[in-house]
Order: sequence, then C-alpha cells, then structure tokens
Amino acid sequence: MALRRLGLMSSTFLVMALSFVISFLSLLGQLRPWPATLPQGLLSLDIADELHYGPNATARFSIDYGRLTEAAPAAVLYPSSPDDIASLVRFSYASPRPFVIAARGHGHSIRGQAFAPGGVVVDMASLGGGRRARRRDRIKVPLDDVHRLLYVDAGGEQLWIDVLRETLEHGVAPRSWTDYLYLTVGGTLSNAGISGQAFRHGPQISNVHELDVITGKGDMVTSSRDVNSDLFYGVLGGLGQLGIITRARIAVEPAPQRVRWVRFIYTDFGSFINDQELLISISEEGFDYVEGQLLMKNGAANSSFFSERDSEKIKVLAAEFGVIYFLEGAIYYELATASLVDQKLKLLLKKLSFVPGFAFTKDVSYLRFLDRVHHDEIKLRPMGLWDVPHPWLNLFVPKSRMRDFETGIFRGILIENNTPMATVLISPMNRSKWDEKMSVTIPDEDIFYAIGILRSATMDDWKHLDDQNDEILRFCNQAGIEFKQYLPHYTTQADWKKHFGLKWDTFVQLKRRYDPKALLSPGQQIFTTSL
Ligand SMILES: Cc1cc2nc3c(=O)[nH]c(=O)nc-3n(C[C@H](O)[C@H](O)[C@H](O)COP(=O)(O)OP(=O)(O)OC[C@H]3O[C@@H](n4cnc5c(N)ncnc54)[C@H](O)[C@@H]3O)c2cc1C
Ligand SMILES: *[C@@H]1O[C@H](CO)[C@@H](O)[C@H](O)[C@H]1NC(C)=O
Ligand SMILES: *[C@@H]1O[C@H](CO)[C@@H](O)[C@H](O)[C@H]1NC(C)=O
Ligand SMILES: *[C@@H]1O[C@H](CO)[C@@H](O)[C@H](O)[C@H]1NC(C)=O
Repeated sequence: MALRRLGLMSSTFLVMALSFVISFLSLLGQLRPWPATLPQGLLSLDIADELHYGPNATARFSIDYGRLTEAAPAAVLYPSSPDDIASLVRFSYASPRPFVIAARGHGHSIRGQAFAPGGVVVDMASLGGGRRARRRDRIKVPLDDVHRLLYVDAGGEQLWIDVLRETLEHGVAPRSWTDYLYLTVGGTLSNAGISGQAFRHGPQISNVHELDVITGKGDMVTSSRDVNSDLFYGVLGGLGQLGIITRARIAVEPAPQRVRWVRFIYTDFGSFINDQELLISISEEGFDYVEGQLLMKNGAANSSFFSERDSEKIKVLAAEFGVIYFLEGAIYYELATASLVDQKLKLLLKKLSFVPGFAFTKDVSYLRFLDRVHHDEIKLRPMGLWDVPHPWLNLFVPKSRMRDFETGIFRGILIENNTPMATVLISPMNRSKWDEKMSVTIPDEDIFYAIGILRSATMDDWKHLDDQNDEILRFCNQAGIEFKQYLPHYTTQADWKKHFGLKWDTFVQLKRRYDPKALLSPGQQIFTTSL
C-alpha cells in the first residue's frame, strides 16, 4: 500500500515536472510570436511539432539558387509522410483564412518559384528522411518480369543523383536526364527536365508512367494516362500549380556501362547547328546524347573536360574568331562490345564538319558522365563561384530563327557586351518527343533549340546582367521570334496567358478543379487570387 502511494506520488511529481517543462517551452514559444498570417488552429493539428517558425527557421527558405529575390514564409513544415502534407493543405483549404503553400524541392529555382510569402514552405527533403538519414524505401525498383515494364518508383522529394545510384544497383537507370542531378524529381517534373537525351527519349516528363499527387484541396490522387489523366497531364510541366508530387513512376532501361564522351569545335555557327540537326536525326547508329555550347574568348574551355593543353589550343582559336562553338556527344556502350564504339565514332566523324584537329574524346563510366556538372561544382565552390547570384535565362527557340538568334544575341548582345562567366547551352530538341497534352509549352516547329544563358554574377553586377536578359527578350519580341521561356518567369497574368497560348484555358480549368483557392506554388506568380 505504502509502496503504491509512493509510486503515485512520484508519478504526480513527474506530471508536475513535465507540465513545468511544457510551460517553460511554451514561454519560449511566446518569445517567438505565432505568425499573424497563419491561423492558430494549426497548432492543434497532429503536425504542429513539424511546423517551425521564427526568422531562424525560415531564413534558408527565403532565398534560392538564383539569389536574386527574397521572401520569407511564415513557417516551414518538415513532413514525415505525404499525409502530413495533405493535412496541412486540407487545413488551409478549409480555413476561413487560407494561406499559401509551396513545396520546396532543392530550392534550385532562380526567381523564388518555391517561395511561399507569408505562408508555409514544405521542406520536401524531410519526406525522405533528409539528406543524412536517407529512407531507402522512398526509391523502389520492382522486378516485374511478367509485364516487362521496367520502372522506378521515386518519392517526389528525391534527388535524381540518388535515383541514379539506387537504380544502378539494379542494373537499370532512367533514360532522360537533366545536366545536373542535384535537383528533385518533383521539381524537374513540374518544369520538363531536359538534357542531351531529350531528342531521343523526350524530356523527363515524357518518361513518367504514374504520379501520386496531393491537390490544392488536400486530396491524395494517383494518376496516369488512363486514370485521372487530366491531372496527370496537367501536373507534368505544370509549375507546381495543380498539386504536390509525392511519388513518380519513371521509365528505366538497362544501364550502359561506359560512355565515349566527345566534343568537337566549330568556328562556323551554320556548320555547328547543321551537324547537331544531322546527329539528332540519326537513330540507333548515332549519339545517345547531343548538346552544344558557345565559347567566348574570355571564358573559353574552363571546364574539367578539356586538358590544360587542349584548353590553350581552344583559347587561341576563340581569340581569333571572337566566338566559337562545341558540339558535345556521347555514345553509350557495354564493355563486351567496346571495340564497336571506335568504329561507330569513326563513321560519325566522317559526316561532321568541325575544325580539323579539334575533336576531343574521353571515356568514362555512366555515373561519371551523368554527374559531370557536379564535378564542376566541386571545382567552383571553393573558388566562391557557386553560391553567387544567377541571372539565368532559358529559352526554347524555333529552328528557323536560330541564325537571327545568333546574329542578334550571341554576336550582338552577348559578345558586344563582353559578357563575363557565362555558360551558354545550345541543344536541339525534336518536338515529336513532347506530349502536347502536358502543361509545358514549346515552340510550334518540328525542331527547336533549348538555349540556356547561364551566368554567374556578383552582388554588384547581377542587375546589369538581368537587364541584358530583358534586352534579349525585347530583341526576340521585336524580331518576331516565337520563343517560349523554359523555367518561365513572368509577373503578370497577361504575360502568363501569352506564355501558355492555346493551353491557357485548359490550364485555368484545371486550376479551378484542383487548386481553386490558388494555394500552391504562389512563387510562380501565375494565380494570385482564388478562382
Ligand atoms: C545548377 C543547375 C542546373 C540545372 N540544370 C538543368 C537541366 O539540365 N535541365 C533542366 O531541365 N533543368 C535544369 N535546372 C533547373 C531545374 O530543373 C529547376 O530549378 C527545377 O525547379 C528543379 O529544382 P528543384 O528540384 O530544386 O525545385 P524547386 O526550385 O525547389 O521547385 C521548383 C518549383 O516546383 C515546385 N515543386 C517543387 N517540388 C515539387 C513537387 N514535389 N511537386 C510539385 N511541385 C513541386 C516548387 O514549388 C517550385 O514552384 C538546373 C538548375 C540548376 C540550379
Ligand atoms: C538564431 O540564430 C542565431 C545565429 O545562429 C543565434 O545566435 C540565435 O540564438 C538564434 N535564435 C533563436 C531564437 O533560435
Ligand atoms: C523526330 O522524331 C521523329 C520520331 O522519332 C522522327 O520520325 C523524325 O525524323 C525526327 N525529326 C528529326 C528532324 O530528326
Ligand atoms: C578559369 O579557371 C581558373 C582556375 O582554374 C580561374 O582562375 C579563372 O577565373 C577561370 N576563368 C573563367 C573565365 O572562368
């Protein structure tokens, strides 16, 4: 009896101690006042302790890779499951004072597209256990021998580099990539996801079988070409406007072992693009990857691809011509058939008209090839050249206007202004590999080019470079070049309407159906009021 009383007393003591700790903690909480823009009711949800607020919690989510703009959310959600995200969205949707919500993948946007000013940013990485404690169950490669359907199921928060590593362990890999792999599945699928494989396999969005999405009403919906297909097509390239992708089923193929990686130099723009177009028209016998870049005399060949000796040689050529180009290709192969690669390359070389003596080759593993930009990142970071402002501009330009683009922009605006530190990507795309039903918009021509003018700036000169971007857009508009922005940035609905063109009405209808209160990804600045 006495013993039991003693037990009772000690547990009473425990309860008192606990409530003391709790009131102390909530006192601390009061030091960080609950954000005025968020309903107090959020604190009574199960996810309350996954919500972090106050300036320290939100700082990292108020900037992005672009470092051109800043806007703080009121709070950040660290979800441990898709259900947590759905609870948050449902709560906002039902609230008399709804607040905006943005999924943040890896924050590699340029213009605050993953911001949620005054609302809640969802730290998607937290779904996968964060970078350190990766939850392997968020990437699955099932063995479906019966249907011979090869795919990987990846969480929307997963980085492509992790999807690659995991699938390689099963001897397979996705077929369409981005140049840089530290981007999330949900983030690139909300845009398109393009690199040198797109001419053959289409952009990443063309390689998706199925999606799990949380809509702007908080519903969890599985969609595919057959089921809830309007949502499926709408979300792909849909700029985060219709739902948050929590899982994507992505097509894979047997992974190649090795890659013969080549770069050819051109001094003549016409020959350069003719060869690019020739290469994307050859199927099996051609390259598995085709891209290209412009090199200016000051920034020539400063990448890890060229040896120092080759770099010097190229710089001399660039200095002579002011601007030169390189075509980049890759042939995938198996060790067992290595001897055939030399033959294949030799035949291809005969068809091309690069500057004699200016063909450079490397032989690397598939992983090393796909992860190439990260190798540059590792070089640039310690030089303080990675975490800097990035006034980038990405455009899709119809093939028929490429010469005008060269004269007006490459030779005109960029060279004239002696643009420092720019990577200029020039990659041909085949329209037939893009699905008209998806939300992404592209030029109305069979072949178009993806042009990325990717510059690193300083706090002092980024505005100037950004003005140059406006000048480029003005030039295109005045010359009647029917371009489309990729990773688009517009701030008025009239501009968005023009951007979407014929797809605008459908997009608005989908928005009305799946996110009528315009809660999701407000940083895109497409819909600012409830529909
Ligand atoms: C160094 C570098 C190299 C790049 N290279 C390429 C390239 O080769 N090819 C290419 O196509 N792109 C490239 N990009 C652009 C990249 O695709 C975009 O930045 C894209 O937004 C992915 O970045 P993220 O995953 O960090 O997404 P975030 O910037 O975090 O988000 C982008 C948008 O998508 C929304 N979003 C994020 N996650 C989800 C989700 N799960 N569901 C729904 N919406 C979501 C966000 O709210 C936001 O509106 C590059 C970017 C950088 C910085
Ligand atoms: C916020 O961060 C600063 C610097 O890291 C630290 O000194 C301060 O104590 C933090 N404040 C809170 C409330 O966590
Ligand atoms: C584009 O792809 C289609 C389908 O594979 C093909 O028939 C066509 O020849 C390609 N166009 C060019 C210019 O390569
Ligand atoms: C090229 O790289 C060197 C170091 O490797 C660096 O000092 C220089 O600034 C770079 N130049 C350009 C234009 O990128």
